[in-house]
Amino acid sequence: MYTKYLLEIISLDRLDDFVNTIKKHINISDIVCLEGELGAGKTTFVKAFLKSYGFENVSSPTFSIINEYQLKDFTVLHCDFYRIDDAKPFLDYIKEKQKEAIVFIEWPKDIDCTKKLTITNIGKEKRLFKLCF
Ligand SMILES: Nc1ncnc2c1ncn2[C@@H]1O[C@H](COP(=O)(O)OP(=O)(O)OP(=O)(O)O)[C@@H](O)[C@H]1O
Ligand SMILES: [Mg+2]
Repeated sequence: MYTKYLLEIISLDRLDDFVNTIKKHINISDIVCLEGELGAGKTTFVKAFLKSYGFENVSSPTFSIINEYQLKDFTVLHCDFYRIDDAKPFLDYIKEKQKEAIVFIEWPKDIDCTKKLTITNIGKEKRLFKLCF
């Protein structure tokens, strides 16, 4: 059960600032579910998160299912389970890595998350971001 919420309306040009705000609430061992329709901005958010750690040219895990990034103190797993029916086979790997990782999952299916970020397109390049933690 989540007890806290962080709500913000963010345009693309403010996404980097927002990442810096939200970072304080996302820690190693977190599994963050990214909820939102196709094109809501889930991948764009993870790209901005990784950009803040110096990763440019991050690609979407739509076809690779899981992309992994080794940062100085932790790993980032960026998963997208849209194209698979059963995410369970990937769960063992995620659990194995969890202690040293921040995990983002687009289309998490029935995987249990520690935090949830919902992104809603409210038009004119603006998105409502809601972090539940
Ligand atoms: N404020 C914003 N935050 C994030 N993305 C935005 C924003 N405004 C516009 N966009 C645009 O919306 C699109 C979001 O695409 P993105 O691939 O991130 O969506 P997605 O949620 O990962 O979709 P999918 O479910 O297909 O993986 C991008 O083209 C991005 O530039
Ligand atoms: Mg995506």
